Amino acid sequence: MPKLIRFNAFQMNTVSHQSPGLWTHPRDNSHRYTDPDHWTELAQLLERGRFDAIFLADVLGVYDVYQGNADAALRHAVQAPLNDPLALVPLMSQVTRHLGFGVTCALPYEHPYTFARRMSTLDHLTRGRIGWNIVTGYLDSAARNLGMNQQLSHDERYDLADEYMEVVYKLWEQSWDDDAVVNDKERGVYTDPSRVHPINHEGRFYKVPGFHLSEPSPQRTPLLYQAGTSPRGTAFAARHAECTFVSGPSKKVVKKYADDLRAAVRAAGRDGGDLKIYAQALIITAPTEAEARAKHEEYKRHIDIEAALALLSGWTGVDFSRFPLDATIEYIDSDAGRSALASFSQADPDRKWTVREAAEFIGLGGRGPVLVGDPRQVADQLESWLDDTGIDGFNLAFAVAHESMRDVVDLVVPELQQRGRYQRDYSPGTLRHQLFGRNRR
Ligand SMILES: Cc1cc2nc3c(=O)[nH]c(=O)nc-3n(C[C@H](O)[C@H](O)[C@H](O)COP(=O)(O)O)c2cc1C
Repeated sequence: MPKLIRFNAFQMNTVSHQSPGLWTHPRDNSHRYTDPDHWTELAQLLERGRFDAIFLADVLGVYDVYQGNADAALRHAVQAPLNDPLALVPLMSQVTRHLGFGVTCALPYEHPYTFARRMSTLDHLTRGRIGWNIVTGYLDSAARNLGMNQQLSHDERYDLADEYMEVVYKLWEQSWDDDAVVNDKERGVYTDPSRVHPINHEGRFYKVPGFHLSEPSPQRTPLLYQAGTSPRGTAFAARHAECTFVSGPSKKVVKKYADDLRAAVRAAGRDGGDLKIYAQALIITAPTEAEARAKHEEYKRHIDIEAALALLSGWTGVDFSRFPLDATIEYIDSDAGRSALASFSQADPDRKWTVREAAEFIGLGGRGPVLVGDPRQVADQLESWLDDTGIDGFNLAFAVAHESMRDVVDLVVPELQQRGRYQRDYSPGTLRHQLFGRNRR
């Protein structure tokens, strides 16, 4: 039987996430991000489309690398202003039963003790539908506003992340025995103290002597997502991630990421299939091919090159205002994210990108491909991406909120279901159970 195609929705609690400039489209509703109905409507739509999860990106800084200031980011609403993603989860979980929530939290800026409790709380309140996208951050501005001179170096952030995971696993998995909560009204005992254990963690970065404040939640450890395809990022994913996000402009780039990730997972002693890989993509579809192409052209007119370069500069740590638009992108080592630049400069030796081409490319749907066509053509492309690259599904960005997602749910999902390549219904249980058939890590 062919492998099912899985969908996540790639979103952020902001105006302009992955399609810089598209907020100016007359049908776009991204400016409604402060309205709770904007999110509950989206959650219900995605659940109708049997999406695995809504994935909420987040950063704790501003995109101020371009021209050395945040003016372009603020002017064009490039991931600024930006609200807290976690607050959206209870809203959306109240109006859905199965949709999962993958929430990004940058670990250098959250103490593991308080963060572990926040995740356990959300796992309780969503009945086991919370996931955590583990990120180490890439914006120096985040570090500066949290009292550091600059962020830790790229690889040191991953050293910190390794210890952070040790602490949160101890809190989530080892601190409370399964039968610690007895809830015995007759005896007047809620928790048996002998079954709750201090974790006694003392490491290079953290000291946490006590026990976890929350009682065990349905999944205990939230479903773990990770994105980051540098060698250190891949090694980290191999040890911890259950789902991973990759972004690349071509099948060739994405296949390489997928192959490397599965090899690393196997080298870490896990089964290659223990990792679900979602590739970023944007779908532009309509009932006919001509309408879909016209929609694509119409969307393209709203791409803002300066906004796209502000985004790319923030991701890479390289100020792209210093290069002419026709200059070719070469790899420059930086302490921000390494894969963003590598995907344009190194991953595909057959292709040289100019700055303008890269800006136009990320202008619609970020660093993933744009799949355009009628529902059958899009389904063909999705199938061939999945089959040729070895990924498990797609992390779908949008151009116009919520039109892009509505088009996918109403047009593409039924086509894929008819082909037997997309789930018709959810199975009961936690988010981890949906994906891996078990509740616990
Ligand atoms: C699809 C995708 C989504 C990401 N989302 C976020 C995010 O929301 N917040 C964040 O700080 N980093 C995010 N990242 C960045 C990664 O977590 C990572 O920090 C970055 O890719 C640099 O790591 P690397 O050099 O190992 O690739 C994302 C990366 C990818 C590929």
